[in-house]
Amino acid sequence: MKSKNTYNFYEDLDDFDLDERGNERFQRRHPKSMKSSEQVFLHKQDDSRASFQFTYHAARFEEAWLLDSLGAFYEHLWISDVLRKVRGGKEASVYLCRAGEAVEADLLAVKVYRPRTLRNLKQDHLYREGRAELDAEGKQLIDDGALHAIAKRTTYGEQLRHQSWISYEFSTLQSLFEAGADVPRPYEMANNAILMDYIGDLAEPAPALSEIRLDKAEARTLFERLLANLNILLAHQRVHGDLSAYNILYWEGDMTLIDFPQVVSPLGNRNAYRIFERDVARVCEYFARMGVTSQPRKLASDLWTKHGYRVQDEIHPLLLDAENPKDRSLWLEQKRGR
Ligand SMILES: Nc1ncnc2c1ncn2[C@@H]1O[C@H](COP(=O)(O)OP(=O)(O)O)[C@@H](O)[C@H]1O
Ligand SMILES: [Mg+2]
Repeated sequence: MKSKNTYNFYEDLDDFDLDERGNERFQRRHPKSMKSSEQVFLHKQDDSRASFQFTYHAARFEEAWLLDSLGAFYEHLWISDVLRKVRGGKEASVYLCRAGEAVEADLLAVKVYRPRTLRNLKQDHLYREGRAELDAEGKQLIDDGALHAIAKRTTYGEQLRHQSWISYEFSTLQSLFEAGADVPRPYEMANNAILMDYIGDLAEPAPALSEIRLDKAEARTLFERLLANLNILLAHQRVHGDLSAYNILYWEGDMTLIDFPQVVSPLGNRNAYRIFERDVARVCEYFARMGVTSQPRKLASDLWTKHGYRVQDEIHPLLLDAENPKDRSLWLEQKRGR
C-alpha cells in the first residue's frame, strides 16, 4: 500500500485540475480510443500492468491511483476495463468495471478505499472493540510489532488498521454470501480494493432504497426479506453497524445489503446490542414511511434474544457524548436506575 501522504498528494493535485465548478481544466487524450492493432497485439502479449488502460476518464492522479489499486485485478484477468465511477464517497469510491476472462460475469463493481479518511475515525473504537485486526489476507494479525504500531497509531499502524477495515468488509461479504444473504458476491480483495458483483445495468446502477418509493405490498415483501437477512447476519455473529435505507440497494424487486467494513460481533462488543437496535430502528423508519409499521425496539430485542444473545440494558458510556446534555441526562438516569 502506498503511504497516506502519496495519496493525499494525488488527491490534492487532482483538485488542482478542477475549475471552480469542479470541471476538468483540460481534456485528456485517452489511450484506449487510440489503440492500434499493433497495440492490441502487444496488449495480448504483455499482460503486465503497464498495458492496463481504461475507458473511464479519470482525473490525472485518480488514474494513477486506480492503476495502482486495480492493477492486480487486471493482471489476473478479473477485470478488463473500468467503465465509469458509480459513486464517489469520502471514504471509498465505487467503479463499474467490465469483467475479465477469469470471471463469469459481464459487469463488476469495485470499491476502492481512500486511505486519507478512515471511517468514523473519532468513534472507530466503538466498532473495533472485540474485533481482532485482520491482515490483507483476512487473517488475524498476531504479530506484536504490528499490533503495537496499531495501538500507537504510527503511520504504519494506521495503514494496518485501514487494511483491517477493508478485510472485514471482504470477509463479511464472503461469509454472508455463502450463507445465502442478499449481499453482492465478493470476488477478490487487493491492495485497497474489493471486487464484487455489480447491482444494476450498463445504463444505471441500482438505486438505494432511500432514493425510491415502494408501494405497500412490495414494501411488505421487502421488509420480510430484510428480516430474513437480519436473521442470517445474527446467526453468523454479525451486526451491520451502518444499516439504513442508504446501504440497501434495490434492483428489479430484489434488495442487496452493502457497505460492511464496520461490522461488529454480537458477542465481543459491549455496544453491539445498541448498534443493532439503531440499525433496526433506521430501517424500520424507512419501511414505516412506505406503509409497513413495526415496533423497532421489540423487533430488535426479539431477534437478538432469539439468537441467544444477551440484551445489554445500559448504554455503554463510550457510546455517550459527555458534551451532549441529552446524553448526560441519560447517563444520570442509568446510574439512578441501578
Ligand atoms: N455492488 C454494487 N453495485 C452497484 N452499486 C454499488 C455497489 N456497491 C456500492 N455501490 C454504490 O456505491 C455507493 C457507495 O458504496 P458503499 O459500500 O455504501 O460505501 P460508502 O457508503 O462507505 O462510501 C453505494 O451507496 C451505492 O450507490
Ligand atoms: Mg454506504
